[in-house]
Order: sequence, then structure tokens, then C-alpha cells
Amino acid sequence: MATRQEKHETQDGALTRRRFLRTSCLAASALGVGLPTRSLWAQGTSASPTIDRIDPGYIGPQFFDEHERQALMDVVDSGSPFRYWGPGTPTKVLRFEEGFAKHMGTQFALGVTSGTAALDCAVAGLDIGPGDEVIVPAYTWWSDYTCVVHAGALPVFADIDRTLNIDPKDFERKITPRTKAVIAVHLLGGPADLEPIMDIARKRNVAVLEDCAQCVGGSYRGRKLGSIGNVGIYSFQINKTMTSGEGGAVVTSDPVLYERAARFHDMGGLNGLFAQRTGASRVPTFAGENFRMNELTGAVLGAQLPKLDTMVAALRGHAQAIYDGIKKIDGIRLRHRPDPEGDIGYSVFFEMPDKAARDRCIDQLRQRHVPTSTMSGSVLLPIAESVINKRARHPNWPSFNSPEGKAIQYGPDCCRQTLEIFDRFVQVRIGPKYTQRIDDHIIDAIRQVHGAAT
Ligand SMILES: Cc1ncc(COP(=O)(O)O)c(C=O)c1O
Repeated sequence: MATRQEKHETQDGALTRRRFLRTSCLAASALGVGLPTRSLWAQGTSASPTIDRIDPGYIGPQFFDEHERQALMDVVDSGSPFRYWGPGTPTKVLRFEEGFAKHMGTQFALGVTSGTAALDCAVAGLDIGPGDEVIVPAYTWWSDYTCVVHAGALPVFADIDRTLNIDPKDFERKITPRTKAVIAVHLLGGPADLEPIMDIARKRNVAVLEDCAQCVGGSYRGRKLGSIGNVGIYSFQINKTMTSGEGGAVVTSDPVLYERAARFHDMGGLNGLFAQRTGASRVPTFAGENFRMNELTGAVLGAQLPKLDTMVAALRGHAQAIYDGIKKIDGIRLRHRPDPEGDIGYSVFFEMPDKAARDRCIDQLRQRHVPTSTMSGSVLLPIAESVINKRARHPNWPSFNSPEGKAIQYGPDCCRQTLEIFDRFVQVRIGPKYTQRIDDHIIDAIRQVHGAAT
């Protein structure tokens, strides 16, 4: 059966995470090597001094150890996998939320079942609904679009720029009197340029929802991502940094927004612990969902959180070494990083003159066993068939039945700059357990290939 991600693979050249990983695995088996074990992420074999496989691996699981095991056993032994009650005294989600808010520098955190659920809670927290418009980058993950549609609001796309994140100028152009929020996605490990985004948002009275799913642990000018806008969300799905397989969180320092999000994640009710955190309840009950995090997830995340800085430092170190090694290549154009120190180093990106050169470059780097792809893990949303046809779960859905919803036209014409950028950029994955030898191999490979492929 096709998976959720495979069903979305509708665009020419757009690699989803699953397809990218499948491609890496196929490349590995074509080389006659098996899938990586946890202790062999990326090495030449001892018999072969040349590098014949580089696999960045999943980040968080490479840091699993006794702490995750013990935390899970605590839950099993207590017989209390539910966050609010049980035979024991469940505290894993509670403690994780407290630790996560502290780590991110916000007053409140809410653990939920996924990043997608976190987005739905944040949108509910911001009181977004029919008649509102929300500005979303044209290249990002589905959930940034679906959370707006689920609220009955209208998604309006803004182009990305060479940061690979939303272009602040296009964000400003897309604001109308109906714009309630912008989703500033920190995509592919790199912070969006928040200073101009926050300035514009403040001036135009637009709320900022930071989507940090692909940049958990990143920062912008010394502040943790997620703590700068009105509300931030994270995903702990396996492709992210710290992970519990699935999971998500919402952070904010706004007590009303937090209460609305907490209510939405629990069918509209409010467990006393949330009112205790905010000092008092200020919001009446309304219809919500069930996105509660369980104790097993909270246990793993509680064990992963203290390792987040180590994971990010490792990725960042390798990414920076590679950026430093390639930045002097004649004519190379690197991803524009508004704050390189805040980038988590998930991947290294550079731009080729056109699509054909990009494809040649990817091919030649893969021949040298460098884990290379087009920009991966997201979707060119405005050219997806279901978006072009404005298909919600019911034909009378409010998003597309307002005068603006009827008038809006998605498709390639609303995201030309994004399509051009997508066609030119090359992505090289970074693993936290790479060695200097691997960094040097990648640098040499890019040096050999860049000029030849141009
Ligand atoms: C940018 C972005 N936002 C939100 C999500 C949703 O996270 P989840 O898969 O945990 O629902 C993802 C997932 O990949 C993502 O990449």
C-alpha cells in the first residue's frame, strides 16, 4: 500500500524524505553493502581505505542509550502509560514539557502526538478560522498547508528565497486586511530570516507561527527557534533531530494562546495542570481533538532533550567544516544563511546555474558515494494536484468558498521564484557521527564535481 508520503510524490524531481532515504538505501545495496548498523554509520571498510558508503543515518536514534531504556522501563514498571493518571504517578510528559519550555526559553510547552497536531493546536491557539488568511511558504511540508485548511482559513503562498525559507519581501506583498498569521518555517535545518519577518509582522499586525519541525535545536541571533514568534511548533518524528518516532510540541509565552492550544489538544477540556501553569483559566470550553502525548513518548523525549545540544553541535561542526572547505571553489554559490551559527547543519546546500547542471552534479556526487539529492523532505505545494484543485474534505469547506477562496489561483504562476530555486539547489546530507575523513571526502568530491558539472 502506498504510504502517506509516497502518495504525495506527484511532482517532477521533488524528492520526499521517504524517496530520498529509499534512494540512499538502493545506492547502498548497489554498492554491495547492507543497511547501516548503529555502530557503522559512514566508513570505508577496514579492507578498503577509500570511502565506499556514507550514510548520515537517523539523528536521534544514534544517541539512544541507557537513559531512554531506563526511562521507558520506569513507565513500564509503574504501569502508568497515560499522562494524567494510572496506578503510579505519571510525570514523564509533565517533566518533559517543563524541561522543553526551559530549553527553548518560553514560559509554556505542550507535548502532543506529532508536529502536524502541534500545528493544528497552534492555529487553534491563534484563533484562526474562516475568513482569515495565513501566509505559508510555497515549499514546505504538507502540514503547514493542511493546518490552515483544517481551520477553514485560506492558505496564501509566498515564495522562498536563497535562504530556502520564506522570502520576507514576498511575505509582505501577500499581506491583505484578512491576513491573520504567517507560518515562518525553518526549513532544512536553517533558520528563516526572522528579523525582517518579525518587523513586517509587528507593523502589519500579523501573528508569527514558527514551524521548527526541521530545525529542532536551531537558533536565530542567540535565541532558540520557536521562542521568537507568537508560537512555535516542533516535530519529533524520526527524520528530525531528537526523536520518539512520532511526537510534537507547541511552545509559547502567551497564556491565552497556551490555554487555547491545550484545550484544543484535549477535546476542549482543560486539565488542572494547565490552569496551574498559566495562573488561571481565561478561555471557555470549545470543540477540540485528542492529541495528548503518552508517557512512553514523554519518557523517550525526556531522555533525548539533554542530548539535543550535543546532536546539533555534532551536525553543525561537520556542516561548517564542509562549508569552509567548499566556499572558495570558483563560482560556487552557497545557501544564504541569515545566521550560520543558528543553522543545525542538517545538510549543506549549494546552487548550480540550472536544473541540468544540478542533475549532473547530483549524479556525479552520488557516484562518489556522497548522500546527495535535490532539496528534500518537503513539497512544492502550489503545484500539487489537490492544492491546485482546492480540494478540502467537503466541497462546501469554508476555505475555498469565500469570495477570496473562490478567486485564488494556485499553480506554478504563484510560485515561480520557488520553482527556480528548487531546480538549482543541491543538498548534501550531514550525519552527526561523520568523521573528518568523511568531511574531507565530501569536500574533495564537491571540488571535483562542481566545475565539471557547471
Ligand atoms: C516543516 C514541517 N512541519 C511540520 C511537520 C509535521 O511533523 P509530523 O511528521 O511530526 O507530523 C513536518 C514533518 O516532516 C515538517 O517537515
